[in-house]
Amino acid sequence: MQNSHPPAGTWVRRLWSADRDAVVTLFRNLDPGSRFDRFMGAVSEATAAAYAARAVSAEGLIVGAFIDGRLRGVGELRPAGSSGEAELAFAVASGHRGRGLGAALGARLAQAARNGGTSRLHLRCLAGNRPMRALARRLGAEFATGSREVHAVLALSPPTAFSLWSEGVGSLFDVAAAASGAWPTL
Ligand SMILES: CC(C)(COP(=O)(O)OP(=O)(O)OC[C@H]1O[C@@H](n2cnc3c(N)ncnc32)[C@H](O)[C@@H]1OP(=O)(O)O)[C@@H](O)C(=O)NCCC(=O)NCCS
Repeated sequence: MQNSHPPAGTWVRRLWSADRDAVVTLFRNLDPGSRFDRFMGAVSEATAAAYAARAVSAEGLIVGAFIDGRLRGVGELRPAGSSGEAELAFAVASGHRGRGLGAALGARLAQAARNGGTSRLHLRCLAGNRPMRALARRLGAEFATGSREVHAVLALSPPTAFSLWSEGVGSLFDVAAAASGAWPTL
């Protein structure tokens, strides 16, 4: 499957409470199979929407991929128990998969995690979830495959002055873009 750069007009930024409705719509529009993959089990549309409504303000970080100003993908970074460990999760709208949105969201979250002092990122999915396995591989994670579930771990190096600077600049653009409604190309 192709996967180079996200299309022109794509912008990845942090999501705020003002984005809640867009996040709920994205989760509501996931087909049952995608919901099953995202939550690793059967979840109703209403449950997915209720989860999405809380996701913007839940502990951790949530980022979105916008194409021409519309939210098409969401990546979440959530604490995973012990300090220095966190978990990644993704949901990309079905018509926008295979275009690099998942990879762009993952790279953004890995950078934030690294700069926040996280040393290990966990990615979990069902064994049959080929796109998520490919995404974990693309991000550089190491696999420990189980029978039903795949668990991959991405080891992060400590932050550098450059990685901190680069994330700081990105955050400034996030705030400006969210405030102005301008969506520069990724
Ligand atoms: C998993 C998911 C987030 C991937 O998002 P995406 O935007 O399509 O990912 P990308 O376009 O960045 O592609 C990432 C990798 O997956 C591969 N991929 C994408 N769709 C694929 C498919 N249908 N079959 C096989 N590989 C696929 C890409 O080729 C790429 O691999 P590469 O770098 O080796 O080329 C998306 O499929 C999704 O939202 N699925 C439903 C929810 C889910 O399963 N979440 C994961 C569990 S938290």
